[in-house]
Amino acid sequence: MMKYRLFTIPLALLLACSAERPVTSTSRAFEGSLGTPPPKAAAPKLARYAMVVSAHPEASRIGTQILQRGGNAYDAAVAVQFALAVALPAAGNIGGGGFLLYRDRNGSAGSLDFRETAPAAASRDMYLDKQGNVVPGLSTAGPLAVGTPGTVAGMVALHKLMGKLSWPALLQPAVALATRGFPLTAKEAAGLNKTRVDFEKYNPGNVPAYVRPGGGDWQPGDTLRLPELARTLTRIRDQGRAGFYRGETARLLLNEMKRAGGLVSQADLDSYRAKWREPLRGRYRDYDVITMAPPSSGGVALLQMLQMLEPVDLAQAGYHTPLAVHYITEAERRVYADRATYLGDPDFGLVPIQKLLDVDYNRQRAGTMRSRGRATPSSDIVAGANLPSYESNETTHFSIIDALGNAVSCTTTLNGGYGSKVVVPGAGFLLNNEMDDFSVKAGTPNAYGLTGGTANSIAPGKRMLSSMTPTILTHNGKVALVTGTPGGSTIITSVLQSILGIVDYGLNAQQVVTAPRLHHQWMPDLLDVEAGALLPVAQDTLRARGYQLNPALPWGRLDIIHVQPDGTLEGGADPRGDDTALGY
Ligand code: DON
Repeated sequence: MMKYRLFTIPLALLLACSAERPVTSTSRAFEGSLGTPPPKAAAPKLARYAMVVSAHPEASRIGTQILQRGGNAYDAAVAVQFALAVALPAAGNIGGGGFLLYRDRNGSAGSLDFRETAPAAASRDMYLDKQGNVVPGLSTAGPLAVGTPGTVAGMVALHKLMGKLSWPALLQPAVALATRGFPLTAKEAAGLNKTRVDFEKYNPGNVPAYVRPGGGDWQPGDTLRLPELARTLTRIRDQGRAGFYRGETARLLLNEMKRAGGLVSQADLDSYRAKWREPLRGRYRDYDVITMAPPSSGGVALLQMLQMLEPVDLAQAGYHTPLAVHYITEAERRVYADRATYLGDPDFGLVPIQKLLDVDYNRQRAGTMRSRGRATPSSDIVAGANLPSYESNETTHFSIIDALGNAVSCTTTLNGGYGSKVVVPGAGFLLNNEMDDFSVKAGTPNAYGLTGGTANSIAPGKRMLSSMTPTILTHNGKVALVTGTPGGSTIITSVLQSILGIVDYGLNAQQVVTAPRLHHQWMPDLLDVEAGALLPVAQDTLRARGYQLNPALPWGRLDIIHVQPDGTLEGGADPRGDDTALGY
């Protein structure tokens, strides 16, 4: 397994690399008074043996039942994934893809890449007009936005290698849920209502079950029944991989591609493979960090940021003080600049992972941070484009620990909320719009404002770069934290904040996920601030030090499990969504 040592240099040395004098201890005391107190959140969910934290109460319930019936964490992951495909239409999926990271009870770790791929008929400039300009909307919605789905292949591969219960037993709860229906939460009802116009636009002649029968708005508590999806899930239950990639489901999917002008073919479906990959490993303080390798950018970026931050005494710098925010933001800014240039599908080109995780390299990058807590303009790091703010978007994450100590961290996605908005007629499932995660034109920002170049350009069969960052921390050889979240480009910085919350600030799991967050992604040169993340006086201080603050709507859904020193499982379910921690 790849192992990268994190460097440990004293703060003084780091600051000595700066052009100016460091923040002094007197000013540090002043800084401390500018910090936001961590949230006095509701107590975390506690469990003795096993726990599931996911984005929907039905999925957490189903996953916990599988564990109680003797299933392991991998069985529960399969059942939760299919349950989310029913209960969480915005993000749960069989028409998308994702990454799963595990750490087995005997200490081995691995990861499964079931990211979508570009169809064979895709090409580098497929979203550009004759003048070479990006055609707005083409990569973000409708049939051309769809990558070859990977989720079902991923779940089949996971079950085959690691599962204990029978495949049908893991699918049946989702089949039952889709058949019987379930009450819509207020958030899902609002999401479906907001998307109705797009559902109608992208599904002409086929009114999907996601549109309220008889018109009008869904109300919280209305029952959503998904009979076509139930039949598709039944085929997957009975035929495994072939229930999705061949036969009736494939026929319905290809019909829609043909009707609407999409690119996914039977050859794409047949050739799709989920891939087991070596996870990345690093160390942060006295924790070992196991995280996702490319084609996610998340693990590389996370380890780079942790390398840059390790020499800094963040606890001493204070919680959400201008000084702590400075160190974290400057690390983020530098790492996202690298992401844009270097990262892409490692099966299609060299991703310089060794170099990016090299101690000296990151030491040099951190050494360019300015002193006195001042911002380095992003334009001084690497030139880039200006970006839009986030659009509504959805992905979903779940964290599971079973009674044996196996741990699963899994993030899956349709990309945008309800993906491409295309629902396969007769099969009832939403298709992803993951193609937008490619760099559709060098330097042009995608829906998350991320830019890229050739490393992430479109090619047949290639996986689009992701930010999904399923991550597991161990301490003295035992699992200590299972973490991950949706949120597009913000995923990496939210996962970072969850680690800092546990390791540096001693917060409990529920405080970690509840705490208002901050985010910087190099370009645009803005520090996104959730309401309540910074005191007004801290905001003024940061502005005076050169930071451009951007008040932003809440983002991400961190679902984490922290294992207390006595082995008690402490679940944190993000209050921004319908996320739920359950255990026994
Ligand atoms: O793979 C990625 O990085 C994106 N497709 C994830 C999208 C996402 O997290 C949207 N969620 N809120």
